Amino acid sequence: MQLNIYKNYQELSEQVARQILQQVIDKPEAVICMASGDTPKLTCQLLAAMAAKEGTDFSRATFIGLDEWLGIPPDNTGSCHYFLHHYLFEPLRLATGQVFVFDALTANPAKACADMDAVIAEKGGIDLMIVGIGMNGHIGFNEPGVSFNLHAHVIDLDETTITVGQKYFAEPVPLSQGITLGLQHLLDARKAIVIANGAKKAGIIYKTIHNKIGNDIPATVIRLHNNGEIAIDEEAASMLTR
Ligand code: F6R
Repeated sequence: MQLNIYKNYQELSEQVARQILQQVIDKPEAVICMASGDTPKLTCQLLAAMAAKEGTDFSRATFIGLDEWLGIPPDNTGSCHYFLHHYLFEPLRLATGQVFVFDALTANPAKACADMDAVIAEKGGIDLMIVGIGMNGHIGFNEPGVSFNLHAHVIDLDETTITVGQKYFAEPVPLSQGITLGLQHLLDARKAIVIANGAKKAGIIYKTIHNKIGNDIPATVIRLHNNGEIAIDEEAASMLTR
């Protein structure tokens, strides 16, 4: 596993955006999985700007949304659907057939999971997976205690995720379950990058790197990946030097 520490959020986001762009230049039909949330926001914005400036052709790429809050409508500005469309899919002018996200309002979540697994398999697997890390060490909605070997699944959200998750919403919302790619997807991806910024992530980044690998801190899974990377800014790395 590679650890890259960048000076600040801007530099981290530039480097990650550059890696995504390069992935699509190297393999135009690349399959890319993206998290939503505060951490990847600037990466998405910079990627869209770089792609426009450099005229990169994204028309053959496929984008997969990492996860979603079950029951939250797509037009809610706090949904992952809204985030990905607003910050990534629309700025990159992706066609409907190029993007796959979970339907939070599905009457059949098990089928939605099976369909997502099937899309990923049909497309030949994920080339590049960019994920954030929760304050409890979750990846996507793979909460503490989750098995490392799951593909897409529905999960009861951890108390920390329910509390912290309110930050995305204009008004308080009832959050109870998530629908998410599994950690097996991360292990199977050709390249996986966990990104984090800010001092508030320093504690969980320390644990991700130094604790025993296990599902009490799901993000430790990245250390099992043969092409895994942790990309963070100096603030998120601040406990590593102590
Ligand atoms: C969101 C997701 C979550 C977040 C994590 C960090 O799609 O998968 O696991 O990546 O909770 O969120 P931020 O980036 O808002 O700190």
